[in-house]
Amino acid sequence: MQYDDRGLALSTESAETAHALSLAAESFIGQKLDTMAHVNAALEADPGCVLGHLIKGLLIVGVRLPQRYPEARAELDAARAGGTANEREQGYIAALSALLNGQVLEAVSHYETLLQAYPLDLLAQRLAQLELFWIGESVWMRNIIERAAPAWSGDVAGFTHFQALRAFGNEENGFYTDAERYGRDSIERDPTNGWGAHTVAHVMEMQGRHEDGIAWLDGLKDHWSGLNNFVHHLWWHRSLFHLARGELDTVVDLYDQHIRNPGSPLIKANPSHYGDFQNCVDLLKHLGMHGHDVGDRWEPVADVAEGRIGNQAAPLSSAHVATALSSAGRDAAVEKYLAALRDFATTDETNNAARVRTAVLPAAEGAIAHQRGEHQRVLDVLIPARRSLWQIGGSHAQRNIFTQMLADSAQHLGRQDVVDLLLEEMLQRGFEQPAERLGLPNPTVH
Ligand SMILES: [Fe+2]
Repeated sequence: MQYDDRGLALSTESAETAHALSLAAESFIGQKLDTMAHVNAALEADPGCVLGHLIKGLLIVGVRLPQRYPEARAELDAARAGGTANEREQGYIAALSALLNGQVLEAVSHYETLLQAYPLDLLAQRLAQLELFWIGESVWMRNIIERAAPAWSGDVAGFTHFQALRAFGNEENGFYTDAERYGRDSIERDPTNGWGAHTVAHVMEMQGRHEDGIAWLDGLKDHWSGLNNFVHHLWWHRSLFHLARGELDTVVDLYDQHIRNPGSPLIKANPSHYGDFQNCVDLLKHLGMHGHDVGDRWEPVADVAEGRIGNQAAPLSSAHVATALSSAGRDAAVEKYLAALRDFATTDETNNAARVRTAVLPAAEGAIAHQRGEHQRVLDVLIPARRSLWQIGGSHAQRNIFTQMLADSAQHLGRQDVVDLLLEEMLQRGFEQPAERLGLPNPTVH
């Protein structure tokens, strides 16, 4: 038996494997490129390593492409094969198995149980937060990390990552002072920590601190050379700050250079990454709503969207497919997409089916109607659904585009009552200065 860097038992005899798995967990949370390399190193040193196979399977599931699930199932089988999994590793086996069956809530519950017994399990904490984030369960997300907090201190390996996770769990629940404190501490401990950088950017976004946000990210950008595609999301956050300042040409430049640069090695290696897709759709839609001509930039994004038809593994991405396809004028693909969405909502038995039915489908229909200028239809669909849209998952900042569409349509129809409602609800959700974000007439951007 070996122990990881936090003293948790591993059913491997290889010290090299144990260390590599610790590095993999930290790389995964820090949004680094070398996560899988560490997992592969762990498996090279001990090909039967239970947790190595499980992490590999979980990373594969994490790319949200059901066509790759067979690869993850093979890893699950390999993890089970030796019959040597310890109690903690059994929790991972149960979680991966649940995820492969589309039972996200069950998977999170396995992580949660595991974390009650092993609060220093950084990887389980990250995986629980990730799954809850993508289904919008922000309170649950914070509960899990706060429950573990008494076990942690700066003496525990990987504390920078725990602080980043804790910051994000707090930020999405409006505890901005705590979130910023934890996030800044995370970065002081390791300025290359992508998740740590991100959490503070979220605080500044929610508080409308555009100058602070630009300065924060600008001060860290030279530390991002080891990050994975998540680096594009950090640039998306920076773009939001420029967008709020009406600097639309800067936003387009950032989009072309740092968010969707077809020449970048990351984009070339993975042109259909789901996080990248979300960033692109959101930003192009924002630019369009500000009246900015985005040229032919929708075309490659719509190509990615067509490839995602029928994939409901990431509800926020599913909803964004509607915006991408309708913005590119691909009406036949829109119909094909909606048919797949409706079929999934009514026949599928995974956790995401209910979310598609109550949140993704109305969000998609609203987005399509907005793109077509059918403003009454936008109100008819999105007003009743608006308080369910959190189930799309992602962050408040990411879901805000749907509120913006609804507000824009309400303004077109002269429905100030709807705008007032949205402003009130945005404040309740934690957006400070909500009027700035609703596309209300703003002389600096029109
Ligand atoms: Fe974000």
